[in-house]
Amino acid sequence: MLTNKIDPSEDDGGSDANQYLAPIYGSREVGEPIPRFRMPDSSSSPRLIAQLIKDELNLDGNQSLNLATFVTTWMEPEAEELMAQSLGKNFVDADEYPQTIAIADRCVNMIADLFNAPNSGQALGTATVGSSEAIHLAGLALKWRWRNSLGEGAGVTSHRVPNIVMGANVQVCWEKFARYFDVTPRYVPMASDRYVIGVKEAIDLVDEDTIGVVGILGSTYTGEYEPIEELANALDDLQATNGIDVPIHVDAASGGFVAPFLTPNLKWDFRLPRVHSINTSGHKYGLVYPGVGWVVWRDRQYLPDDLIFHVNYLGGDHPTFNLNFSRGSSQIIAQYYNFLRLGRRGYTQVMVALDSTARWITQRIEEIGLFKVLSAEETLPVVCISLVDTSRYSVFDISSSLRERGWIVPAYTLAPNASEIAVLRIVVREGLGMDLASNLIDDLKSVIDHLIRGHKPATRVNHRHRSLVPKGAKATKVTSGNHEEIAMQKQKDKPQGIC
Ligand SMILES: Cc1ncc(COP(=O)(O)O)c(C=O)c1O
Repeated sequence: MLTNKIDPSEDDGGSDANQYLAPIYGSREVGEPIPRFRMPDSSSSPRLIAQLIKDELNLDGNQSLNLATFVTTWMEPEAEELMAQSLGKNFVDADEYPQTIAIADRCVNMIADLFNAPNSGQALGTATVGSSEAIHLAGLALKWRWRNSLGEGAGVTSHRVPNIVMGANVQVCWEKFARYFDVTPRYVPMASDRYVIGVKEAIDLVDEDTIGVVGILGSTYTGEYEPIEELANALDDLQATNGIDVPIHVDAASGGFVAPFLTPNLKWDFRLPRVHSINTSGHKYGLVYPGVGWVVWRDRQYLPDDLIFHVNYLGGDHPTFNLNFSRGSSQIIAQYYNFLRLGRRGYTQVMVALDSTARWITQRIEEIGLFKVLSAEETLPVVCISLVDTSRYSVFDISSSLRERGWIVPAYTLAPNASEIAVLRIVVREGLGMDLASNLIDDLKSVIDHLIRGHKPATRVNHRHRSLVPKGAKATKVTSGNHEEIAMQKQKDKPQGIC
């Protein structure tokens, strides 16, 4: 989050109520009011301050009813205890905490194995704060490889402009990568009946300056898996015909811990030689609290050496490839706990349970008869639906009305060229059991009943439908004709806040 500094003189009304925090029932301990936007002059009792902050945080949404997020909201108490014990350990202090580093190394190995990395022992990877950082690292490796292939080293400018091909449905971190690291994004638009990347459309955008093609497992918008094996085959054909050799990066932020357990025969990972790197979020279906992510390369030749830094800050020599320096260790320990505690069988049990809850919810919603289901079976445990008839009320009305009951179910429009379709999305995570799910269905029915009878929600909750792209932002350079120009233009207006 970016936070603006508040000018106290512009604080609305400047009333005491706005400028100070003053807990009424704690007031016997408060000597003077506590300012809101300036550090207080004096200290206060820990009990009072903890109570005050807890009370304030009660105004947040209820995380168990937050069906908008893919991110873990529940872990076992044993995991929480382990996390608490590691809170003070800086992960970068490798010499001081060698066992923590050894545990992270084991996690990378387990994930590479899960993603079917070749047994040559040449795969490598690292822990990150989330998939966004993992994607930026993977994108940098693609860009460096492309640049090295032109015979240019770091610091040498080129007249050539790198581009990356991806569906218009990519998560915002890909747009950040392209903008922050000067790579032209080439977006494959969606269609009214296709909400993931089109293979032919993607190949049409590839040229000799394409650093990579992104395949998403699965789409943040609908939960669908992109056709990664088909993309790989099409890129093989392209190489056979005109010699252009372009790798695939798989953004498995959510699916990386779903597909290996639910659909182990689906080929999307290092079983496809064209897949050079994969990211996943440990804090999504890896079942760890935020934030932990992972990125793995199938072979060390795909991670150029000059991206690796050798840190010897507090002793020893440690190769690192990360955007952060200091970071917490707790999430890595928690990931390791889950790997050992659940094992492959346990993860499979969890994913099967989530999948059957998602199917149950889908069936109940289909029985209502008012919705079209856009999410597909055997993908992410997500239910994505649109209204068949939008003349009387919209999915935004349903989302806002559900919010009045405490449920957080986002409504948003799909990515460019399918943006006339507005959907509701329910992410099924651990914590959404059948009991809660059946309450959700009851509330959905009663909300629809109210809307049919003409009751509108008191307020329109639409925070997840907001575009974070600044108004008037320029589309990046057009390099492959009108098709891309249109895609870029539309990309500016797509909803960005859904995940
Ligand atoms: C497909 C996809 N990629 C990347 C991300 C970013 O992941 P993170 O929140 O771990 O940075 C998300 C988040 O929802 C996502 O759905």
